[in-house]
Amino acid sequence: MKALVYHGPGERSWQDVPKPRIQAATDAIVRVDAVTICGTDLHILKGDVPTVGPGRVLGHEAVGTVVEAGPGSDRKPGDRVLVSCITACGRCRYCRTGSFGQCLGGGGWILGHRIDGVQAEYVRVPYADTSTHLVPEGVSDEHVLMLADILPTSYEVGVLNGRVAPGDTVVVVGAGPIGLAAVSAARLFSPGRIIAVDLAESRLEAATRFGADTVIKDDPLQRVADLTAGLGADVAIEAVGVPETFELCTRLVRPGGHVANIGVHGKPATLHLEDLWIRNLTITTGLVDTYSTPTLLSMIAAGRIDASPFITHRFAMEEMEKAYEVFSAPQETGALKVVLTRA
Ligand SMILES: NC(=O)c1ccc[n+]([C@@H]2O[C@H](COP(=O)([O-])OP(=O)(O)OC[C@H]3O[C@@H](n4cnc5c(N)ncnc54)[C@H](O)[C@@H]3O)[C@@H](O)[C@H]2O)c1
Ligand SMILES: [Zn+2]
Ligand SMILES: [Zn+2]
Repeated sequence: MKALVYHGPGERSWQDVPKPRIQAATDAIVRVDAVTICGTDLHILKGDVPTVGPGRVLGHEAVGTVVEAGPGSDRKPGDRVLVSCITACGRCRYCRTGSFGQCLGGGGWILGHRIDGVQAEYVRVPYADTSTHLVPEGVSDEHVLMLADILPTSYEVGVLNGRVAPGDTVVVVGAGPIGLAAVSAARLFSPGRIIAVDLAESRLEAATRFGADTVIKDDPLQRVADLTAGLGADVAIEAVGVPETFELCTRLVRPGGHVANIGVHGKPATLHLEDLWIRNLTITTGLVDTYSTPTLLSMIAAGRIDASPFITHRFAMEEMEKAYEVFSAPQETGALKVVLTRA
């Protein structure tokens, strides 16, 4: 079969690899029907994630059909499933409380990281019963695909950790797919105003389409102060992953406000406790757990969340290399999420 293989920093290829086989009783083999690329895959290709070694099949966001299941799994051939970015053993102390991202039983973020991922014709999914979600009738593969990572991440790590409440002023720093998903998810709580901050014009236009009330490119501190009578925002959601934007978020919120960090950071950021100690801030961090996926799936099925605006480009799976090129150059292509489907 074909798969997208990482060969070390800057090197990848869509090539022949052995088809995966059941290794444990709780595994399932899933035929990948729709798959997408994540900003995290680009981090891996830059060499920012050293736990990914050469030879690894990338990808952790897919929808597919079960073709084979181990004797310890209730999944059946023909089941249509969402393959979540987080794998869960379902039994460890973290899984028992819904913190699947911290799974101690060999799960967590492993697909396309510690084991071969989903940018392939077939994938082996460990702990299939607790790591896949059955897809309800009437919901398209590409809409469900937005639940593999971006929507639960923005909802859990951004909006719920940030305690967005009705009437709040919410600032989202970074308007990539994750920041835009945070704008969509924040709207579920009727905030008073959503402000999006980004450097790229195309991303700010997207933020307006997704429902941001105000978009800011320059001098966000002053602009947010002006919009909030000098007080600052109730919630700041960091969706970039660089020190400047984390530090900016701590300055954008009012005393007593919440900073919810979503960005994956590769470098240390400074926490200015000398200024912040007196401001009663709550700062949260997190890897997505995906405990909200069933809730979000029912909201997509009910039409309460529209996943279609995230999808800007569609390709056949064999065009994986081209899809990577388009996704890696959002300034020129306007790409948000690219969807690849089997022919
Ligand atoms: N915590 C988690 O579980 C989790 C899960 C998935 C992704 N992430 C992380 O979330 C972050 C966002 O993901 P994405 O796919 O949307 O990334 P992206 O690169 O597509 O978007 C980042 C956006 O930030 C903007 N930006 C860059 N520097 C900026 C600055 N100084 N000020 C304002 N805006 C700036 C860029 O123009 C871009 O639009 C990444 O760090 C990603 O790794 C975290
Ligand atoms: Zn992802
Ligand atoms: Zn576990």
